[in-house]
This record gives sequence, structure tokens and C-alpha cells, in this order.
Amino acid sequence: MTKTILRALAGETLPVPPIWMMRQAGRYLPEYRAMRAKAGDFLSLCYTPDLAAEVTLQPIRRYGFDAAILFADILLLPQALGADLWFVTGEGPRLSTITTAAELAALKPKDAIHETLAPVYETVRILAQELPKDTTLIGFAGAPWTVATYMIAGRGTPDQGPAHALKAADRTTFAALIDLLTEATIDYLSAQVEAGAEVVKLFDSWAGSLKGADFDDFALKPAKRIIEGLKARHPGLPVIAFPREAGERYVGFAKVTGADCVAIDNSVSAEWAAANVQRDGCVQGNLDPSLLVTGGDKLIAETRRVREAFANGPHIFNLGHGITPEADPENVARMIAAIRG
Ligand code: CP3
Repeated sequence: MTKTILRALAGETLPVPPIWMMRQAGRYLPEYRAMRAKAGDFLSLCYTPDLAAEVTLQPIRRYGFDAAILFADILLLPQALGADLWFVTGEGPRLSTITTAAELAALKPKDAIHETLAPVYETVRILAQELPKDTTLIGFAGAPWTVATYMIAGRGTPDQGPAHALKAADRTTFAALIDLLTEATIDYLSAQVEAGAEVVKLFDSWAGSLKGADFDDFALKPAKRIIEGLKARHPGLPVIAFPREAGERYVGFAKVTGADCVAIDNSVSAEWAAANVQRDGCVQGNLDPSLLVTGGDKLIAETRRVREAFANGPHIFNLGHGITPEADPENVARMIAAIRG
């Protein structure tokens, strides 16, 4: 029997949707915090295959999710291209910035990425061996626009202002950065698939700030190129795309890009997404992650509502965004029980 996630991705409507959670390996779990302390810091955890594989497995052991997502980060790719990367505890990522053609030219060529990323592929190989036979292994990368927003600003930004400013001031350099990331992402995800990833997910966390033709040029087109490039090398590879906060632009996203599934954030209703997005195929989402902090009857009611809204088509149950460090691990168990009954 084929794995449930793969069946949903192939368009099958299942009586009980398969489940996993964005950021399921993370700080809300005491066993994760212990392993991170053992590694010393977040990047050491990402680059130590035995430890990265172990934290990937923690939520699978605890909850029996239907999918495991490789433990890594979308910012490892810019690091592999030569950007400096570090994490400031309690604040988030910092990178050396790219704001000129000269800085872009000083990055490494895409063929150099595997030297830095080899430990990530080793983590995937370990997981392909260690995961329960019914659990699907998901690899991932950031989408070019989202990764570029961090590379240009050197950090996370509320409105992606520096990236929009470079796009306006020097479109040639901006587009060349998007191109480099597009090509490097095909190679990066392809290497994850060769190591044993069965599905890949493209995280475009800041897609919502691209409007009009910019959304076409820098969210849709790079996703289409990446998905076409991957499927040419790995026929039949299922791809999940997450153009977060795309709103109306979720409609038709799968058709245009060739994605097998679109992940939906919780700023749109499940009922709207069922009517307008799920008609093109599998969708993933979209429980509000704050409910895993607050819990109670509302968590159960909303979990059931999301499940019901998507029950007439292919659906992978997930959150609208990552689970937060403040979430109660017991609430995750309650959410799963409300779905599996
Ligand atoms: O469990 C999983 O989902 C797999 C691992 C994973 C991480 N990051 C681990 C992580 C995945 C898929 C990501 C994706 C990622 N990373 C995204 C896209 C998804 C999203 O959340 O929108 C983005 C934008 C990043 C960049 C990033 N990494 C930021 C902005 C931060 C700091 C904010 C934060 O949550 O702390 C990180 C750090 C990070 N990545 C952590 C984890 C578990 C926390 C690090 C820690 O342990 O201190």
C-alpha cells in the first residue's frame, strides 16, 4: 500500500487526511531543546547528520506523523553560495548582504553548493534508512524570492523593504540573483531526491508581498522553472508549493507552476480554499498555529472545521504556518486525535 501522503499528492481523497506540521521538529518539544543544547547551536545541529536526523525523527516517534521533513533551513543555500550566515539567539538569522552587482558576482557558482551542503544529503540518507516504512520523507528549499529577501536585507524584515528597493533600483542585479537561486535550488533539491527525499516542498514565505506582475515574475515563474527542472530529472516527483499569503493568487498556482499540491496559510478560510484551490488538486493546510498555544474546545472545533472543509478532495492536514515555540505538545496530540478519532 502506497504511503498516505503520496496517495493524497496523487489526487486521492482519503477518509482520514494524512498529517504533518510545519516546524514539527522545533523548540516546543523538550527533546528538541535538549538536542540543540547538545549540538551547541542551531547551525551545528543542521550540519551534524546524526543529530539532524535524530531531531527529524523526534516528532515522528512522539506523534506518528505521516511525513517527516528534513531538519535543515532555507538559509543554508545562501551560505553554500558564499554568504556569511549566523543566528542571533532570540532574534533570528543574520547574513552578509547582497545589494550590488559586484557583491552578487562575488558569490560562488551554483556548482559549488554541494561542498557545504553534503551533510544535509547525508541526513537525508540516514532518514531514508531510519524512518518507519509508512512515513514519507519531505525535502525542502526556500523559494528564490523568499531566500533573496534575507540575502538582500541580511536578516528577516517585516515588509521585505530592502528586496523591493533593490528590485526597483537595479532590476538587472535583482533578477540575476533570482536566476542564480532558481538554478541552485534545482540542483539542491535534486541532490536531496537522489539521497532519498520522496517529496519536495518549496517555501515562499514572503510571496504575499509580491503584487501584480511582480508575483508572476518572482513567485510564479521561478516556481514553475524549479518544478519543471526537477520533474525533468525525476519524473513523477511530487512537489508541494507554499506561496504564503498569496491570497487570490493561490487560485491557479498549481496549474501554472506544475505543483502537485499547494499549501495554504491561515489568512484565507479553508472553505474558500476548498472551493477555489482544491478544485485543481491536493491542498495542504491550514489550521491557525496559535490554536496549539491556546488549545481548549476551540482547537478541536477548528481542527474539525478544517478537516470537514477539505473532506471532498485530496488534502494533507497541516498548519497555516510553522508551530511556535510557545505551543503545548499536548495540544498537538489533541489535534491529531481530533482528526484520527
Ligand atoms: O521542522 C521543520 O519544519 C523542518 C526544519 C525547518 C526549519 N526552518 C528549522 C528551523 C524548515 C522547513 C525551516 C524553513 C524556514 N527557515 C523558513 C520557511 C518557513 C517559514 O517558517 O516561513 C524560513 C523563513 C526560515 C528562516 C529562519 N530559520 C528564520 C527566520 C529563523 C528564526 C525564526 C525562528 O523561528 O527562530 C530560523 C531558525 C529555525 N529554523 C529554527 C528551526 C527549528 C529555530 C532555531 C532554533 O532552534 O533556535
